[in-house]
Amino acid sequence: MRRLLVSPALLLLGACQGVQSALAGDGHEGANFLWLFWLFVAVCTLMYLLVAAALIAAVWRRRRNDAPREREHDGSNSLLKTGLIAWVGLMAVGLVVLTVASFVADRSNASQTARPQLLINVTANQWWWDIEYVSSDASRIVHTANELHLPVGIPAQVQLKSNDVIHSFWVPSLAGKQDLIPGRTSDIQLLPRRIGLYRGQCAEFCGVQHANMALDVTVESRADFQRWIAAQQRPALAPQTPLELAGYRYVTTRECSVCHNISGTPASAKVAPDLTHFASRRSIAAGTLPMSKGNLYGWVADPQSQKPGSNMPTIGLEPQELHAVLAYLQRLK
Ligand code: CUA
Repeated sequence: MRRLLVSPALLLLGACQGVQSALAGDGHEGANFLWLFWLFVAVCTLMYLLVAAALIAAVWRRRRNDAPREREHDGSNSLLKTGLIAWVGLMAVGLVVLTVASFVADRSNASQTARPQLLINVTANQWWWDIEYVSSDASRIVHTANELHLPVGIPAQVQLKSNDVIHSFWVPSLAGKQDLIPGRTSDIQLLPRRIGLYRGQCAEFCGVQHANMALDVTVESRADFQRWIAAQQRPALAPQTPLELAGYRYVTTRECSVCHNISGTPASAKVAPDLTHFASRRSIAAGTLPMSKGNLYGWVADPQSQKPGSNMPTIGLEPQELHAVLAYLQRLK
């Protein structure tokens, strides 16, 4: 019984706090959904309480006057009539309030982001996100994976595609969900209102690693965003130490280069996450592990034990190869 009472409370607390919360309202659309949600809760709660009160009053009344039913017949009828009219009127008002509020929220969402200042392409894959910051100047296009940086107060248009099955793009703290459907392009507008670190999550079951298909979202000041994008536009840093050089040689000529791209190196494949600035990210493998040296060793040495079913194979690197690859990957800030 205690567990039954505690779990809804924990759920509500969990939903209110942290980096992934539909009750945060830290984006324009999220904030609209939030006040609309609370309005629905208030109106529906009021209706529910009124129905419950009417039911209790009716039972109480019936029990009280069992005897002189004849004399009260007329009075009861007129009371019932008044009550019914009042109830129908109240329901109509409640429904009109909810309809108007939904319309206002919808128009606000549509108008606010009509002129996006930032265009981002997000392509879903089992089980990671390919991200491209679009620019008319080809040298300024940025490719990254599993991380989204957004300047606060700037409306961004996110175009969504899928390379395999249906996924769903969802950053609960900022906005609603949008499906990514193979062969079609959908979109969602993001207008973050508060600087902070957030988490997005694929919200459509898409296979065994659906739960490990997350997205790190950083909302930052415009100046910080400009610094970030300028850093991302640069090619990968060159290896410096002999160990990094050995790692560079392995990564750019062996298995890794068959799938990954590292700008400024011979590795230019596009079927797996872009690694050009890999070490600047907050997590590994689409939010599966926090970025750290230990986790990176575990991931590269045996991805299939960390994220079974993913397309990253367990290669079976020799210890010295693993050290070298890790040294080079950590250089990719
Ligand atoms: Cu992609 Cu669930």
